[in-house]
Amino acid sequence: VFPSDPAFRAAFALAPDVAPLNHGSYGAVPRAVSRAQDELRGAFEADPVAFMEDLGPRLRAAASAVAPSLSLRGEEVVFVENATSGVCAVLGSHPWRPGDRVVTTNHAYGAVRLALDVTARRFGLVVDVVDVPFPLHDGGVVVDAVCRHLPGAAMLVIDAITSPTAVVFPIPDLLREARARGVPVLVDAAHAPGHLSPDESGVTADYWVGNLHKWSFAPRGTAVLTASSRWRSTLRPTVVSHGYEEGWICAFDGLGTRDPTAWLTAPVALSWRDAWGEAHLRAGNHARARVVAAMLSERWRQPIPTSTSVMGAMAIVAPPRPVGAQRAPVLHAALRRRGVQVPCTVFGGRTWIRVSAQAYVSADDVEKLASVMEDALAEIGV
Ligand SMILES: Cc1ncc(COP(=O)(O)O)c(C=O)c1O
Repeated sequence: VFPSDPAFRAAFALAPDVAPLNHGSYGAVPRAVSRAQDELRGAFEADPVAFMEDLGPRLRAAASAVAPSLSLRGEEVVFVENATSGVCAVLGSHPWRPGDRVVTTNHAYGAVRLALDVTARRFGLVVDVVDVPFPLHDGGVVVDAVCRHLPGAAMLVIDAITSPTAVVFPIPDLLREARARGVPVLVDAAHAPGHLSPDESGVTADYWVGNLHKWSFAPRGTAVLTASSRWRSTLRPTVVSHGYEEGWICAFDGLGTRDPTAWLTAPVALSWRDAWGEAHLRAGNHARARVVAAMLSERWRQPIPTSTSVMGAMAIVAPPRPVGAQRAPVLHAALRRRGVQVPCTVFGGRTWIRVSAQAYVSADDVEKLASVMEDALAEIGV
């Protein structure tokens, strides 16, 4: 049993009858942060033109407010809607040469993998997928596997925290190895802000994108993209708009008409998070993930596939009996019907249960998952 804080849970609008075990996919926005965004929307609607006319400096102020939490300066970051847009901006504007080889792993996020394949077709690249084993107990295995593919590579595209397997990759070690071989690195740090420290997530990589709408409580559609000075002159968004020829900041900031209130609310979200204590939340979530993994492993008699050294705030365990990859969506639906919201991920041809141990998760929520599983499996005929 782990401690949970009802006051933290009460800060969110989460439905009381659903065990909220999937913070990782879309985050959850505290009521106070939603209120701040509502106020901004009110100001926007009061005089839409004035709001848009003032937007440039306000976006820069928001960038300057969030950058220090990533050990960056405001002029080193731009906002993008999500990790996917950031990755696509990098892949679409990097100065590729035909035949370049891009290294990634079999744990990469599906949409990013697809973006790599599409980019490869467009620029004549080769996508080189490193097989990183799972279960995984030692980050050194990731480094060894990736290093074998680095010589001569044009880029390494690597996750800070993997989506299907909830593994924290040893990004600082991978950055060091890639640098030693002159290979630029794009870190897909979708889950990192509020989950890992800036160093652990590799913000000093050639390119780095992280969502603030997952573990940092910002309204959805808020991610930060940064690049080392070497690449800023070529980095551009996928959409061409007024600022395109005026440097990377103008190109990203001045991109057509859209609702910027999520980005402008990001500083409020970070202040809300920091009032609870960012390091305190991170440490608590990690401790909770360890307990969740142990609870489910014991109840379902399954080994924990990740050691604590590669575990962040998410626990991953296999269900009590093997569930084929194709059955993951029906298992998810069966669990949801029983009041449990948890992702059934797919890796290695089988289904895994990934639990986000966000601070609003109670032991009762995890107990509910553990106990409805048999019934859910029976419903789907496993
Ligand atoms: C590793 C990884 N990359 C990219 C994404 C995509 O994030 P977004 O939907 O915010 O673009 C996710 C989402 O969970 C992810 O886990």
